[in-house]
Amino acid sequence: MSVMVLIGAQWGDEGKGKATDLYGERVNWVVRYQGGNNAGHTVVLPDGQKFALHLIPSGILTPGVSNVIGNGVVIDPGVLLTELGGLDERNVDTSRLFISADAHLIMPYHVAIDKVSERYLGKAKIGTTGRGIGPAYQDKVARLGVRVQDLLDPSILAQKVEAALDIKNQILVKIYNRKGLDAGRIVDTVLEQAEAFKHRISDTRLELGEAVRRGEHILLEGSQGTLLDVDHGTYPYVTSSNPTAGGAAVGSGLGPTSITSVLGILKAYTTRVGSGPFPTELEDQWGEYLRKTGGEIGVTTGRLRRCGWFDAVIARYATRVNGITDYFLTKLDVLSSLETVPICVAYDVDGQRHDEMPLTQTGFHHATPIYEEMPGWFEDISHCRSFSELPANAQAYVNRVEELSQARVSAIGVGPGRDQTIVVHDVLAG
Ligand code: GDP
Ligand code: IMO
Ligand code: MG
Repeated sequence: MSVMVLIGAQWGDEGKGKATDLYGERVNWVVRYQGGNNAGHTVVLPDGQKFALHLIPSGILTPGVSNVIGNGVVIDPGVLLTELGGLDERNVDTSRLFISADAHLIMPYHVAIDKVSERYLGKAKIGTTGRGIGPAYQDKVARLGVRVQDLLDPSILAQKVEAALDIKNQILVKIYNRKGLDAGRIVDTVLEQAEAFKHRISDTRLELGEAVRRGEHILLEGSQGTLLDVDHGTYPYVTSSNPTAGGAAVGSGLGPTSITSVLGILKAYTTRVGSGPFPTELEDQWGEYLRKTGGEIGVTTGRLRRCGWFDAVIARYATRVNGITDYFLTKLDVLSSLETVPICVAYDVDGQRHDEMPLTQTGFHHATPIYEEMPGWFEDISHCRSFSELPANAQAYVNRVEELSQARVSAIGVGPGRDQTIVVHDVLAG
């Protein structure tokens, strides 16, 4: 039995979709445990077909795998239907997708409030994906949320939507000067949508617990990343859930003792979408170089990703807060053709060296990177399939990343395809 959590170690978009797909054939279950359709996970199948998944686990693309949308996820029913429809059209078997009865729903008022509140914040905006994620999690914690199981009882659903709208309409109308929404219409729409996926609602906690008992293999697919975690990230420029490893237990219903390993997905450089501090950000031609060479454009919103050099302070932090044992270092190929490759090893904060994350968020805002220059390589490495085939300087770069991050690099991505991976250690074998 193995239960592996797969975590983004930076600010998201590290290549979690590709990594999930790589291990998909060797697991029985793939589980999303937090976030919602703010995520955009890209998978490129061996035949070249490219998929972008937002809500449905990336394991859906591997025949025979059971997929779970866990209790910790927030689900927009309309998006779920569109995504299922898109997969059906491309002949992907979606019959083994199960949805937790306890997952919360993203309602139209969550999306409306997400959008207007960001507009209202102006320059101080978080830069959210505008998908209603934050407002849906706010309602969950405020005990005002609507859950998947409410779709099974129209009168309870109507009561809950009416109670929530009582407050939401006041916010929309009185604070944001927008039109209020109609409870009856919302209820009718979601009930109609639910007809298409009601049969998938199940006690996923029980299913996963039984799977563990039978000795099956489970992969918990994180979305977003460590620095976007509401507790451990660069608050308030974060998402509203816990992508970190602790969140995997809460959001799936598997006890922490079931988890056998934590794999961090780490990009060979750093990117971020939306607002917030980013010490190694490059606003010059090198930032543009990484964006262009790495194709750094958001899968969900189409926004250009901010780019910068590798930040080892962040990686070390991610190792610690997630208990990461192994890393999948992605996009090493993007760094080919550079004379030197800088690595941020520590920060200078107001004249003082910090080898670890500064105590306060203000400190992090003031952090400027202290770089170490690694010699670059010019060879195209996208065809390398073993560590020894990599140019000596690329090997040295990986070794230095490993040393600074304090966890072993077990896989290296040299291109978007499943086979464009160098496996150094088999993480599923332990
Ligand atoms: P996720 O949100 O963590 O799943 O990552 P995204 O899918 O948003 O962004 C990662 C992008 O990098 C996708 O376009 C992937 O196809 C691509 N990708 C993943 N691994 C590699 C790699 O090793 N090399 C290259 N060149 N691209 C990669
Ligand atoms: P994947 O799973 C990168 C960012 C948004 C914004 C902040 C809050 O593909 O790695 P939200 O809509 O969640 O309230 O936005 O979080 N963000 C992501 N950035 N990858 C993601 O997902 C993200 N999901 C949210 O850009 O800064
Ligand atoms: Mg993404």
